[in-house]
Amino acid sequence: MQLPSFLWLWKIAAWSMGLSLMAYLLLALTGFGMWRMRHSLSIPSFLLFAGGRWATRSLWVKLHLIMGVSMVSLVLLLLAIGIIGTLGHFGSLGHSSHLWAGLMVVGLVLLSAFSATQIRVRKPWARPLHITLNTVLFVGFAWVSLTGWSVVQKYLP
Ligand code: HEM
Ligand code: HEM
Repeated sequence: MQLPSFLWLWKIAAWSMGLSLMAYLLLALTGFGMWRMRHSLSIPSFLLFAGGRWATRSLWVKLHLIMGVSMVSLVLLLLAIGIIGTLGHFGSLGHSSHLWAGLMVVGLVLLSAFSATQIRVRKPWARPLHITLNTVLFVGFAWVSLTGWSVVQKYLP
C-alpha cells in the first residue's frame, strides 16, 4: 500500500477531532449554563447567545443532548477510522500508546453518555459521576490528540 494513499483518511481524522473538541467545548458551556440555571444563579452574559432572555433550562438540555449525541458519533467514527486505517496499513493493531489513548477516550465517552441517561432525582450519584467522567475526558482528549498528531507524522510526504 502506498503511504500517501492513506493521507486522506488521517485528514478526516483531524477534521473529526476538531469537531469533537468543539462539541466538547459547547457541552462544557451548556452544562455550566444548566448548572447555573438549576441553582437559580444568573447566566454569564457570554453564554446568553443561546436564546437570550427566552433561554430556558429545557432548551439548554436539548442543545446539550444534541451535541452529546454528535460527540459520541464523532468519537466512534474516529475509532473506526483509526482501526480500519491501521489494519489496512500494518495488518495489525497496537503500534503506539495512541491505541490506549483512543480506547480510553471511547470508554470515557460511552460511560459519560450512559451516566447522562441515569441523571434523575432518585439517582443522586449520576450527575457528579457524569461531571467527573467529563473532566477526566479532557485529559483523554489531550492525550489522544498529542499521540495522534505524532503518529500522523509517519504518513506525511
Ligand atoms: C457524552 C455526551 C453527553 C451527553 C449525552 C450528555 C447529557 C447530559 C444530560 C441528559 C444531562 C442532564 C440534564 C438535566 O439535568 O436534565 C447532563 C448534565 C450535565 N452535563 Fe452532560 N452530556 C454529555 C457530555 C457532557 C460533557 C462533555 C460535559 C462537560 C464538559 C457535560 C457537562 C454536564 C454538566 C455540567 C451537567 C450538569 C448540569 C446541572 O448540574 O444542571 N456533559 N448531560
Ligand atoms: C477520539 C479520537 C481518536 C480515537 C478514538 C482514535 C483511535 C485510534 C485507534 C484505536 C487507532 C489504532 C492504533 C493502533 O492500533 O496502534 C488509531 C490509529 C491512528 N490514528 Fe487515531 N484516534 C483518534 C484521534 C486521532 C487524531 C486526532 C489523529 C491525528 C490526525 C489520529 C491519527 C491516527 C493515525 C495516523 C493512526 C495510525 C497509527 C499508526 O500509524 O501507528 N487519530 N486511532
